[in-house]
Amino acid sequence: MSSATATDSSETTIRYGLIGAGHMAREHVRNLALVPGSRITAVSDPESSSLEQTRAEIGHEVELFADHHDLLSAGIVDALVIASPNDTHHGILKDIFASGLALPILVEKPVCTTEEDARELERLAADYGAPVWVAMEYRYMPPVQEIIDAAHSGKLGKVVMLSITEHRFPFLHKVGSWNRFTERTGGTLVEKCCHFFDLMRVILQDEPTRIYASGAHDVNHFDEQYEAGTPDMVDNAYVTVDFRSGRRAMLELSMFAEGSKFQERISIVGDEAKIECLIPVAAGHWTPGDQIEARVEFSPRSPIGPVAHDVPVDEAVLAAGAHHGSTYYEHLGFRRAILGEGPVEVTVADGITSVLMGLAAERSIVEGRAIDLQPVDSRVAR
Ligand SMILES: NC(=O)c1ccc[n+]([C@@H]2O[C@H](COP(=O)([O-])OP(=O)(O)OC[C@H]3O[C@@H](n4cnc5c(N)ncnc54)[C@H](O)[C@@H]3O)[C@@H](O)[C@H]2O)c1
Repeated sequence: MSSATATDSSETTIRYGLIGAGHMAREHVRNLALVPGSRITAVSDPESSSLEQTRAEIGHEVELFADHHDLLSAGIVDALVIASPNDTHHGILKDIFASGLALPILVEKPVCTTEEDARELERLAADYGAPVWVAMEYRYMPPVQEIIDAAHSGKLGKVVMLSITEHRFPFLHKVGSWNRFTERTGGTLVEKCCHFFDLMRVILQDEPTRIYASGAHDVNHFDEQYEAGTPDMVDNAYVTVDFRSGRRAMLELSMFAEGSKFQERISIVGDEAKIECLIPVAAGHWTPGDQIEARVEFSPRSPIGPVAHDVPVDEAVLAAGAHHGSTYYEHLGFRRAILGEGPVEVTVADGITSVLMGLAAERSIVEGRAIDLQPVDSRVAR
């Protein structure tokens, strides 16, 4: 870290290396630009057009590499952000673990795509000497933060039910079309929905024991053809999850509902009150009208009469990404973890658990039965 001239941690410059230089990497670039003391010094990606687009977004001198091994051996970064396709995360993490560099890592979700890799990461991450943070930033959206706080503060009484709906646009086009196939993504319920399985655990402060899903690939991408064939990603599903405490949560997903004004609706019902948030589609994905604000509605059982308000998010933070400001707040937390001023808030154990839930849900669809879940070793919660 370039801290020779720093007088306190807010002045410490952290040099970041990006592994993967696509769409999400550029969201990290825009957000790190808003975090004082951040400088991207290196980027690796086998695709030169991705490197050039990301270099342009960074807007200052940066070393470019076609291979992450060369980035690692250049010795010019203090922390890493992995934003390559899902099926590359596990191998890249293993290379970093084996490098002996002990650099803090922010790795995009899903942390891996198979159960075998999840169990291996569980072992390897436990022995790694630096923070590893999994980028599942839905927790950091301001309206989601508000309903999490309400659930944990006792404002709802005893929390009993949780329901998450996502009605959104189909998968975007990605470099090499990696997001069209279950083999490369882990499946829609891993790729997309690991976010929501993570939220379920965070909101309920509980661990899942069993999952049942019904879903299918019914509408999207049938007109596309690739070397690997026609895309096979599920585009609609209902999932129910049982938790250790006996409580349950559910997820409803539609990926052909881009006409919706709000993309996510999260409802938490306690024995005294309900709270719900509505999160708008990211600007640029919804044409009619102006940017829409997120809403939170609190509905006590007594006195009856919901109280609702908008949750504004800083415009610069909102404009830096497509995830309602969350990537910015995630980076503030990651910076604290790098500097030893805060914990890793989304651990490898969290990342693995969300993947295992997604994989079990995908398997449930195929096998038509509920799948039991095994706990993840908490030693990887570092
Ligand atoms: N946290 C979120 O909400 C969120 C949102 C979008 C994407 N993502 C995740 O970010 C990751 C990247 O997604 P994206 O949308 O940027 O995809 P993308 O296709 O736009 O970019 C991926 C980039 O990685 C590069 N790449 C391929 N193999 C590589 C390797 N071995 N080393 C380095 N780079 C490599 C590709 O050439 C491409 O430029 C995925 O894991 C995705 O699930 C997370």
